[in-house]
Amino acid sequence: MTIDEELLRRYPRTEGLRVNFVTSLDGAAAVDGLSAGLSSAADKQVFRLLRMTCDALLVGAGTFRDEEYRPLTLDAERRSWRLACGLSAYPRLVVFTRSLALDPGHRALREAPVRPLIVTPVDPGAHPVREVADLLVADLAEAIARLRADGSTHLLCEGGPTLLGALTSADLVDELCLTLSPVLAGPGATRMSVGASHSPRAMRLIHAIPADQALLLRYSRAHD
Ligand SMILES: NC(=O)c1ccc[n+]([C@@H]2O[C@H](COP(=O)([O-])OP(=O)(O)OC[C@H]3O[C@@H](n4cnc5c(N)ncnc54)[C@H](OP(=O)(O)O)[C@@H]3O)[C@@H](O)[C@H]2O)c1
Repeated sequence: MTIDEELLRRYPRTEGLRVNFVTSLDGAAAVDGLSAGLSSAADKQVFRLLRMTCDALLVGAGTFRDEEYRPLTLDAERRSWRLACGLSAYPRLVVFTRSLALDPGHRALREAPVRPLIVTPVDPGAHPVREVADLLVADLAEAIARLRADGSTHLLCEGGPTLLGALTSADLVDELCLTLSPVLAGPGATRMSVGASHSPRAMRLIHAIPADQALLLRYSRAHD
């Protein structure tokens, strides 16, 4: 798969916390429990490109489990691009969980090219997942501050809705890359943000790119 230079120009490697989502026109974040029914070739291209450009990939444990994450590998061209930019060959996977209901035998953990980080708010003491991942006891803001302090300054979050709700509540989202998929999913489907309501955060449109019938949107936080 060749890197699309024009798309890379539209989605440059950007410091801060960038969130990537795809939704239906009527705001659904999943169809039959998965985001695959909303995605498209253009959305997948953005998805891969954003993974290529980040230092760490953040995901909620719900998405990690439901979407059956695979080891965070990249093809040779993307690895070369990263190395040429002075980055490590692969980004690091960071999974957020409260329950620690993660299987240490999960391929995405056991076969990860970079030892993953698991973030949880309460110290569980000894836990089998420590065999395959580092554990950080922290809340969201502390975890993001720690990642930045450790050199992961360009963060990508792939959701899901509960994690996004918590991130927006804590006002930690710097950028949203949103693909609007040409689908009406109907009532009942999960929205892209879930959790307690909080004051709205203003965002600024960077681009809107039509791609077949979908729309590739990029917003960054408006200045306070
Ligand atoms: N359309 C899209 O782009 C997109 C993207 C991602 C996901 N999805 C869809 O979203 C659905 C999953 O939704 P979800 O809300 O369960 O996903 P999620 O936000 O990825 O996962 C929720 C889980 O993440 C952990 N978590 C959330 N906030 C946390 C915090 N502040 N600190 C520590 N851990 C935290 C908890 O894990 P524990 O349960 O382990 O405690 C929580 O139950 C799936 O249907 C998936 O397909 C869609």
